[in-house]
Amino acid sequence: MKRIGLKLAILAMVASTVPAAADDRAAVRNCTWCHGAEAQGYTVAPRLAGQRPQYIMSQIQSFHEHTRDNPFSRQYMWNAVATLSQYDVRDLANYFASIRPKPANDGDSALAAKGKRIFMQGIPEANVVSCYACHGPDGEGVRDIPRLGGLAYFYVKGRLEQWGQGYHSTAGSPMPLVASHLGPEEIEALASYLSFVR
Ligand code: HEC
Ligand code: HEC
Repeated sequence: MKRIGLKLAILAMVASTVPAAADDRAAVRNCTWCHGAEAQGYTVAPRLAGQRPQYIMSQIQSFHEHTRDNPFSRQYMWNAVATLSQYDVRDLANYFASIRPKPANDGDSALAAKGKRIFMQGIPEANVVSCYACHGPDGEGVRDIPRLGGLAYFYVKGRLEQWGQGYHSTAGSPMPLVASHLGPEEIEALASYLSFVR
């Protein structure tokens, strides 16, 4: 009994002095449990690999403040970020941003050409602005504007639909207005095209 007690005491001491990097790995493991081992996305959890670090940080803040309020965000992400410190958030964002992203390739390839046209040019007669103007020619994103190229079809489709349904993401986001002009066929075309972009 005594010996086991001593072992536990030593373990406790060792555990309290492990370097920060080990804690970071534990935090990453919590995230990849849902987002996939290489953070390339898994079922309803989107790819984080290659995402813009500032965007990852802004979304974590939105989950933390409960601003991003769609059903999956409430169900999965509000808890997942509840106890992260600001240093964890920064380290996790930089870590996931540094992983090479792979395209999901899961859209309808027959709709890709239409999606690309809307992405690059918008639909002026329907008040749809070009996505390229903010997200860049390959949907690569910049600063807190996310990378879209290669995200999964169902994820992008869901996001574009939800803005039209009145869910929120970041305060001051231009996307509810942008998405409000998109019909279901345009959303399917855009989500299909983007899933193939590298
Ligand atoms: C229990 C599952 C689960 C865990 C654990 C989890 N996530 Fe998520 N995460 C999700 C789901 C599902 C979504 C999609 C929410 C939506 O549809 O709006 C998401 C969305 C996100 C987004 C938004 C991505 C985007 O493109 O807008 C970020 C950033 C994120 N998670 C980071 C993390 C980090 C960092 C961790 C670890 C601290 C983590 N997640 C842990 C399930 C999870
Ligand atoms: C005025 C600049 C601007 C334009 C134009 C724009 N976006 Fe965005 N987009 C943003 C910003 C900023 C965000 C981050 C929004 C947030 O946090 O709510 C975003 C987020 C997104 C996301 C969420 C990505 C994720 O990982 O969850 C999708 C999908 C998206 N935009 C698609 C589009 C499409 C499709 C178009 C063209 C029809 C478009 N955007 C036009 C600025 C723009």
